[in-house]
Amino acid sequence: MDMKKLIVGNWKMHGSLASNQALLTELLVGLPQPLSTDVALCASAPYLAQLQTLLQGSPLAWGAQDVSAHGQGAYTGETSAAMLRDFACRYAIVGHSERRQYHAETDELVAAKAQRALGAGITPIVCVGETLAQREAGQTEAVVKRQLAAVIHTLGHCSGEIVVAYEPVWAIGTGRTATPEQAQAVHAVLRAQLHAATAHGERNRILYGGSMNAANAADLLAQPDVDGGLVGSASLQAAEFLKLIASCPAVA
Ligand code: 13P
Repeated sequence: MDMKKLIVGNWKMHGSLASNQALLTELLVGLPQPLSTDVALCASAPYLAQLQTLLQGSPLAWGAQDVSAHGQGAYTGETSAAMLRDFACRYAIVGHSERRQYHAETDELVAAKAQRALGAGITPIVCVGETLAQREAGQTEAVVKRQLAAVIHTLGHCSGEIVVAYEPVWAIGTGRTATPEQAQAVHAVLRAQLHAATAHGERNRILYGGSMNAANAADLLAQPDVDGGLVGSASLQAAEFLKLIASCPAVA
């Protein structure tokens, strides 16, 4: 069983051909050797070809930030899972809170996207997380369980093949990280839910996301149910991201 931590950089809508190349070059030069952590980068769709060219044969994997819930057809602006497969994406983020919030993505749509990704041999990184208002109303557990339940319902016994990312919305881009205890408490809930859905003893990786950086990653990743991180702004600076990777405990 692969128990390495997984660190995923979510570049969001940042980057350019030139800045991506500079960032990737610095990362490839600075990565610890051997790399005891799995690392992936998720870029906007136009840059997947660049990632494929520059990262093929390297220890870094890459992926997309979204995928269509449809197989193919008249869906202007969408990118299918098969297209992502053409660019050798290993991962596709689905259900990021920015998609749920700005694009009105429902739990059912997110589940359909996860299913499309898996069908193309791509590991979906399913994001769940509560807003500040929901946390303050004591709804955290109910919200993340509802979000994950929709995916489990759709995927059934394949649920063991997904990565889950717990991203409290109030911690994203705010500098306000969940404490290791807060993260662990929610991860334990998600772990139990996944365990009940996957009878084969698989251990899904559950990532934490939300203002993770080189200074706070080690404490978060030391929690028993925190299997990695989904990192936004700290993944855009090579030195910071390399420090974060170096701070990972080698094995969960
Ligand atoms: P930040 O690390 O910038 O808070 O973003 C987290 C995130 O949304 C990763 O998907």
